Amino acid sequence: MTTMENPTAFGSGNAATDKFKAERVTSDTSVERASAIYQDVLGALADVIHKHQVTYDEYRVLKQWLIDVGEYGEWPLFLDVFLEHEIEKVHYERKGFAGTKGSIEGPYYVPDSPRLPAKCTMPMREQDRLAPSLIFKGQVTDLEGNGLPGATVELWHADEEGFYSQFAPGIPEWNLRGTVEVDENGNFEITTLKPAPYKIPADGPTGWMIQSYGGHPWRPAHLHLMVKAPGKRSITTQLYFKGGEWVDDDVATAVKPELILDPQPNAAGIEEVTYNFVLDPDA
Ligand code: BEZ
Ligand code: FE
Repeated sequence: MTTMENPTAFGSGNAATDKFKAERVTSDTSVERASAIYQDVLGALADVIHKHQVTYDEYRVLKQWLIDVGEYGEWPLFLDVFLEHEIEKVHYERKGFAGTKGSIEGPYYVPDSPRLPAKCTMPMREQDRLAPSLIFKGQVTDLEGNGLPGATVELWHADEEGFYSQFAPGIPEWNLRGTVEVDENGNFEITTLKPAPYKIPADGPTGWMIQSYGGHPWRPAHLHLMVKAPGKRSITTQLYFKGGEWVDDDVATAVKPELILDPQPNAAGIEEVTYNFVLDPDA
């Protein structure tokens, strides 16, 4: 993994690429399906070239930019910002989910985070404790509302400066990452910090591209979740905060109305919110 003094697009991009490459992914796509997809992709690109009368200078800039994306390790970042939300939509439409809505995984998930009890505080540094706290609680159930005692709620999110552990230097390995084991009724109660809006790295080719069309690199503040239970379909999703900046204009187009939280101060003045996860049976 790349480590550097200051967080950079190059550092986080290459850390995400190294993690992704370690997975060695495969797909059982047939030759016929691959042929149909490639023809349509190339046909769509040809249409764009003709529609916009793309010039040789623009073509060469594209070639250089594609080389840069690879060198900065930004393919996971770029694809997860601009394409993953469409893949995620197709995934959920195809499988006909009736439970909790999904959202994109993004490039910063790491499996096997520390196991935590149903009532827990996320691993965090002293400096993270100074940020506003959030108590996030709920129940994992099946479609009929029965609690699922064997479920786990994996939670990961950025710190108060917008950095993810393992993708920026100097942060403890499992900071703000945990796998919460729900209690015998499927309940959990997690204390963490309320994340701030997240700016995707702007000092690399993905950021340069966004700048070149006058866009912005912001995602609304969010929690990432992966919820699993024996015999149920796992769900990958994100939760956002009502009225938060960029909720209506997410660079990654990943917000859904069903995924917006509205925490309220509890008796001790700490923001608290309940969100229940509903899992479909395994198909
Ligand atoms: C994120 O949710 O952290 C994320 C998603 C897509 C691209 C980059 C980051
Ligand atoms: Fe994120």
